[in-house]
Amino acid sequence: MDFTADRLLLFGATGDLAQRMLLPSLCALHADDLLRPDLKIIGTARSDLDDAGFRDFARDALEKHLPENRRGSMDDFLGRLFYQPLDATTLDGYTLLAEKVGQSESGLAIFLSTAPSLFEPTIKGLQHAGLTGENVRMCLEKPLGIDLESSCEINDAVAEAFPEERIFRIDHYLGKETVQNLLALRFANIMFEPLWNAAHIDHVQITVAETVGLESRVAYYDDSGALRDMVQNHMLQLLALVAMEPPSDFDATAVRDEKVKVLRALREVQNGETVTGQYRAGAIGGEAVPGYDDELGKDSDTETFVAIKAHVDNWRWKGVPFYLRTGKRLPERVTEIVVQFRCVPHSIFAGDKKGHGGAKLQPNRLVIGIQPEENISLTLMAKVPGLDREGIRLRPVPLDIAMPDAFSGAVRRIAYERLLLDLIEGDQTLFVRRDEVEAQWQWVDHIRDLWRANATAPRTYTAGSWGPSAAIALAERDGVSWHE
Ligand code: BG6
Repeated sequence: MDFTADRLLLFGATGDLAQRMLLPSLCALHADDLLRPDLKIIGTARSDLDDAGFRDFARDALEKHLPENRRGSMDDFLGRLFYQPLDATTLDGYTLLAEKVGQSESGLAIFLSTAPSLFEPTIKGLQHAGLTGENVRMCLEKPLGIDLESSCEINDAVAEAFPEERIFRIDHYLGKETVQNLLALRFANIMFEPLWNAAHIDHVQITVAETVGLESRVAYYDDSGALRDMVQNHMLQLLALVAMEPPSDFDATAVRDEKVKVLRALREVQNGETVTGQYRAGAIGGEAVPGYDDELGKDSDTETFVAIKAHVDNWRWKGVPFYLRTGKRLPERVTEIVVQFRCVPHSIFAGDKKGHGGAKLQPNRLVIGIQPEENISLTLMAKVPGLDREGIRLRPVPLDIAMPDAFSGAVRRIAYERLLLDLIEGDQTLFVRRDEVEAQWQWVDHIRDLWRANATAPRTYTAGSWGPSAAIALAERDGVSWHE
């Protein structure tokens, strides 16, 4: 059912995500006049606050996490906020919560930013209070389970109350402008698509490197690890966007139909196709940082780094490896996709063959920077200027587009701004469908089974390095170097 919600009910309203992302995003949308004037935002959590207390809490969060020039009139925004304390595990409080939400003219969007163990009781409570009707949609934040089985349990519980057309599963990477730009690059330009296949592409690399360590998420992260925290969701979504067929339309069904085909075509990973690591004390940007065990306060076998050689078994990608790597405490924060094309079939340049001072003919490479720099760079071979007797000398030169320069003055948005707006307005295109999540888990569960069967323990790497040397070897065995 199409509607623009006039109520947003936020579970976990005093949590970390609400403070750092959700409240700032909503305030920024308000400042840009993108929220309907009658939208009310009702926060709920265990904390015993009233409306005024929640507004104070939100003001602090905005002052900390939203640049001043994006806040607009904070008082007006805070006027949209209301609060109802709730113990989500007992039915008692939900009737009061429903009263606080009040009568909606058009519809209600509910955002669950809570521990997944609360999903089921919350759904029951919402049903009890009559907050699951046709004009209610439900948005779920990760982690959606820890494996396929638990993810199915969550999805089943939510499906008891909401049909799939009203369920919005967040993968915040899909809210990033640069991730959406990947679709523009592929499908709004004629020049890449004819080359976007195994005949012309040698391999693809996807790197999501972070400098941060555990931050304050000790319990969650140690139960999760890099594979479940980053690969199962963000990295597989990036891979799906790179590998999918052109959808017929930019709408929720067409885009997600194509992504799920890729996810289902992922080949089961074999022994020797993954490397895991855990950081030890080291330095990042000149600052000493402790090792994972020290941060955690105990020994652990959780991987903070993973590299995987993946394959998509279909006609388009036959034989093209996708190298994925992600890790904490790497030397820099960078998310990028590298598409390495094949060499030209035959070189006509004598200079190239003799290698007389020019570079050997190198294959073209497209680097799509997602963050922190938003740029696209295509490496081309060019003639080095000069009157060389021995023939044309060549050198690779980059054709660079820095997005902030190309669109100067454009506001740098938080990924959640896009997603919250789409949730309120009811567009599911940038949300993950159940079949996608389940295909993602299936692939990841197999990797974990392999690790268990082989008693794989993470190798160590020094904080501030690019992970264990075995990760470099994983690519180098195929004659590939990670892009740095
Ligand atoms: C989250 C992970 O989903 O994504 C975190 O749980 C990670 O561990 C974060 O740090 C990275 O997001 P971004 O937008 O900073 O790349």
